[in-house]
Amino acid sequence: MEFFPAFLDLRDKPCLVVGGGSLAIAKARLLLTAQARVRVVGAANADDVEQLNALGLVILPREFRASDVEGCAVVISAAGDATIDRKVSQVARDAGVPVNVVDNPKQSTFVVPAIVDRGPIVIGITSGGAAPLLARRVRAQIEAMLPARLGDLARFAGQFRGAVKAVIADARLRRRFWDRFFGGPLAQMVLSGRDRSSREAMLALVNGGHADDLSGSVAIVGAGPGDPDLLTLKALRALQSADVIVYDRLVGKRILDFARRDAERIFVGKAKDNHTLSQNDINALLAQKALAGSRVVRLKGGDPFIFGRGGEERDYLAARGIDVTVVPGITAATAAAAAASVPLTHRDTTQAVTFVTGHGRDSASDIEWAALARLDHTIVVYMGLANAQRISDQLINNGMAPATPVAIIENATLPAEKILSGTAATFPMIAGQQGLVGPVLIIIGEVAASAAARQTIIHDADLREVAA
Ligand SMILES: C[S@@+](CC[C@H](N)C(=O)[O-])C[C@H]1O[C@@H](n2cnc3c(N)ncnc32)[C@H](O)[C@@H]1O
Repeated sequence: MEFFPAFLDLRDKPCLVVGGGSLAIAKARLLLTAQARVRVVGAANADDVEQLNALGLVILPREFRASDVEGCAVVISAAGDATIDRKVSQVARDAGVPVNVVDNPKQSTFVVPAIVDRGPIVIGITSGGAAPLLARRVRAQIEAMLPARLGDLARFAGQFRGAVKAVIADARLRRRFWDRFFGGPLAQMVLSGRDRSSREAMLALVNGGHADDLSGSVAIVGAGPGDPDLLTLKALRALQSADVIVYDRLVGKRILDFARRDAERIFVGKAKDNHTLSQNDINALLAQKALAGSRVVRLKGGDPFIFGRGGEERDYLAARGIDVTVVPGITAATAAAAAASVPLTHRDTTQAVTFVTGHGRDSASDIEWAALARLDHTIVVYMGLANAQRISDQLINNGMAPATPVAIIENATLPAEKILSGTAATFPMIAGQQGLVGPVLIIIGEVAASAAARQTIIHDADLREVAA
């Protein structure tokens, strides 16, 4: 983060805008919305003076003087003249007054973000000067997403804050109350402008506020393959309302960033042969947190019910009478297939697909590779890297054509994504030569040919790297 976001209280504070053009007027207007006492210094034409007067501002139609900065809470230079802007910046810095020079982050000690104003909810967006247009696009997207009366909702809740606190003393229960309120029909009523009925309904709700009970719950949530954009909305909501998040190795920081800041985060690891906590310990931890009244999110890579031990955890918790739900996630197979542009089924060639683990409870020998080799369909191998040679041998020895196309996808949907293509005979060697270490998915079958077809082929013996 290059700029620390903070919101300034400028009410009734003297602020200075330097410049007399439309940009300066816009900045003066902005400061006025924050109820600042704004002075504008600069050469303005008659129209601009008229506009500024209409805003209740007095413009001083003269050059900037160092003394103008004295006592100011902030200074904005919109002079559009490099010499004046530089001077304003220097004087303000010397005086220790925060200064923004429009479109010049280097001469600024703060930036004015693109603003979404649903007062008292205010959102500031900045690219730190790197891509202001992108920041503006983000603002437009947020504008479109947020209800117009969001500010009314915040004010409404603010009016009832004290009453709710008086009725529900426990901070955690109170948080849950508000969580339900904001996600529930009453908030919708406020947002639709039905003031009187929402007020009456809120009073009834506050008086029955103890309806919130202490019992906790566990949501076993699929976080998808890594790209935060591939989280489901339901997963996002679960994350944002969780008191405790118990997460695995494949869940990245960018996904955890969606969680509430005050949520407890517990890493339980799980790389091959390197479990931070045993499965039994994880089960016990989930139960303990839920029985203590927390809303627990058990966050897993991909889908929790596909090679995710979600079933084991669900059974353990349900057997103890704990409220447990499952939120599906995008599994690595579909994500990697999309990344490599490999349809897992295709009406012309492939009528079925099987997901298998290359690393069973004991070893790859758990799997009936002989049966799979004969089925002439798509095989998707999770956790197949360590046993790649063995899998290749089993399939070919049991009748699979050695030239059967294979796509190998490492870190699907993540910045370090790598897509390689090979055959049933060559994929172990390709994976070895490329030194793959991240999570790797292997797609075997006719459909995998399309990965190679659409990618650049590097001629290097049997090795065809299709994307780095
Ligand atoms: C313990 S399994 C968990 C699978 C997960 N529940 C799912 O539905 O995707 C871990 C394996 O999933 C595969 N995997 C998970 N994320 C992946 C990714 N982003 N790219 C490639 N493979 C991935 C790898 O085979 C990895 O070894």
